[in-house]
Amino acid sequence: MAFARLLAGLLAISGSVLAQSSTSYTDPDNGITFQGYTDAITDVTYGFVFPAGSDSDDEFIGEIISPVTNQWVGIALGGTMLNNLLLVAWPYDDTVVYTPRYATSYTLPTLYTGPTITALPSTSVNETYWKFVYRCQNCTDWIGGSIDLTSTNSTLAWALSTVAVDDPADPDSAFAKHTDDGAFYENYYAAQSADYYNYA
Ligand code: HEM
Repeated sequence: MAFARLLAGLLAISGSVLAQSSTSYTDPDNGITFQGYTDAITDVTYGFVFPAGSDSDDEFIGEIISPVTNQWVGIALGGTMLNNLLLVAWPYDDTVVYTPRYATSYTLPTLYTGPTITALPSTSVNETYWKFVYRCQNCTDWIGGSIDLTSTNSTLAWALSTVAVDDPADPDSAFAKHTDDGAFYENYYAAQSADYYNYA
């Protein structure tokens, strides 16, 4: 898997140096224009949109679209696992369970208090994909880091697993280490939208 991604990365670099960066797309299910990225190998999409013109609102709307083979998917907003706000989500029946986490060592991240996360109505689960569309308030600052909305290329990391969490009904569930992880460049500057509060 790591070799496949390296190869894909090298091929992408030969095509375009921007291949691993976020781009603008509109999700037809909710009409939201996100600045996001789809990993070519895992087929998981990560999208983000922020209120325009200010980083004092401390919030964003995000989405994770994943094949059902992935039993949990997480993002590391600061670009690495440690000392950053982690958001983890997994499908459960016909909905998605989500949990803000934090880790100071390479062990199971613990619940992190502060963020208010709300699943938006286009969150869905079907036979092939699950989709988590969420509003994350008090989510742009955390102990040890923050999102810089002036940045056009911040490292945003992800991790996922094909192994289910121990108790999918419980946001505080334990789970085992990711079976895959990676990162891309998020253009936070371009992720700001005047339509934000219509989306929210
Ligand atoms: C039981 C849970 C977890 C364990 C035991 C764990 C363990 C580890 C370990 C040992 C590494 C070092 C590199 C490697 O050995 O692959 C690592 C890297 C990483 N982990 Fe985790 N992890 C867990 C959960 C998570 C979660 C929930 C996220 C994101 C939401 C995450 C994101 C990352 C990322 C992005 C890396 C690579 C970059 C870095 O080192 O920071 N991990 N993890």
